[in-house]
Amino acid sequence: MTDPRLERLLATVPGLRLKTDPADLEHYGRDWTRRWTPAPLAIALPGSVEEVRGIVHWANQAGVAIVPSGGRTGLSGGAVAAQGELVLSLERMNRVLDFNAVDRTLTVQAGTPLQVAQEAAASHGLAYPVDFASRGSATVGGSIATNAGGIRVVRYGNTREWVAGLTVVTGAGDVLELNRGLVKNSSGYDLRHLFVGSEGTLGVVVEATLRLSDPPPPTNVMLLALPSFEVLMQVFAAFRERLQLEAFEFFTDVALRHVLAHGAQAPFAETHPYYVVAEFATGDERAETAALAAFEYCLEHGLVLDGVISQSDAQAAQLWRLREGITEALARYKPYKNDISVRVSTMPAFLAETQALLAQQYPQFEVVWFGHIGDGNLHINVLKPDTMENDAFVAQCEQVTTLLAGALERHGGSISAEHGIGLVKKPYLSGTRSDAEIAIMKGIKRVLDPNGAMNPGKLFDA
Ligand code: MLT
Ligand code: ZN
Repeated sequence: MTDPRLERLLATVPGLRLKTDPADLEHYGRDWTRRWTPAPLAIALPGSVEEVRGIVHWANQAGVAIVPSGGRTGLSGGAVAAQGELVLSLERMNRVLDFNAVDRTLTVQAGTPLQVAQEAAASHGLAYPVDFASRGSATVGGSIATNAGGIRVVRYGNTREWVAGLTVVTGAGDVLELNRGLVKNSSGYDLRHLFVGSEGTLGVVVEATLRLSDPPPPTNVMLLALPSFEVLMQVFAAFRERLQLEAFEFFTDVALRHVLAHGAQAPFAETHPYYVVAEFATGDERAETAALAAFEYCLEHGLVLDGVISQSDAQAAQLWRLREGITEALARYKPYKNDISVRVSTMPAFLAETQALLAQQYPQFEVVWFGHIGDGNLHINVLKPDTMENDAFVAQCEQVTTLLAGALERHGGSISAEHGIGLVKKPYLSGTRSDAEIAIMKGIKRVLDPNGAMNPGKLFDA
């Protein structure tokens, strides 16, 4: 190790684990966007809050930027290190620290994978209900940094709802214990919530106290075939009125085609234009009857064309695979991802307008529409045609996003529902947030990160 900055880092934090091999720089310097060439200075793997604090102090003095790093499953470039930054990986800080049965909380280090937190909660007969497909790799810290959503938001809300306390190291190097697991705390600004969704731009989340929910009820999964997207919200209402919905997800025939080509099993003999996966609480006859009633109502009113209900856990998993397998099935097309949200009531109008605009103006692209429709959150993935150069593809996709951003402004939506802004959506932030809001966000960053050490260039340019 010859870089004098790293020598000084080791002098400041004796014993700190550092990686500088080219393969490690490549591995830790990118996230799932795969768009930027990783070029970090080094990878630091602290083992304690004290070491994180030391790294942040060094960064402020040495003028080196820090990119906090969890499972790097992000889709917006928030964890990319392409400018000589130090990657601060929370990988070694992955322990469950405490379970409190009375408070129903679980305290974990930020590098704990989401699935490990879920399993720890389940081992105590409770649940951590934040859930999404990359649960095995994504970390609790990363999910807090993006206020991650996922497939159960319709029932349980976003990550923010489940954060009872945070320990953070701010960009100025202060260790703050925020909210300390309290249920009620009316003592001024709730700084905890500034860190939820901050994308590592204010400091590093090092520990989190998570609220736990009742264990999930027994559930059943239904796959519905729909004739058009116009009826989506009517189907949603019909099921929500009669059942406790645990998830309500949507995808198109195009998405299904890709998942089937990737090895999933076809659910129906015929193909249909749109599909919904609905998971609902069951366990007694009443719920089964209500599910049937919802389905029959939809059938009678021409809102659904067909349906299948899971008869076993294995079949439920098969139906879920049709939805959760989409991201993996599309990966080979290097999709350009959009992750928008509008109010649920606005979704049909937004879909109608944008589907028509994209088909008209960008017929060269295959666009895959899917997402968490019960939350008003759509993932609009544009697939790269094999014959198109990558740069030309990205440039045209940016025009698509500009078009979507315009529609979002008209419909009062957000350019990111759950993936975050990062680098990918930075140019579109001003369509979702007013100038005054962005100025306040920058002011908050200046207070918590006065030297701009934390993840500079992500979310906005300070
Ligand atoms: C999902 O919900 O499957 C992901 O957030 C969407 C994506 O890969 O674009
Ligand atoms: Zn999603």
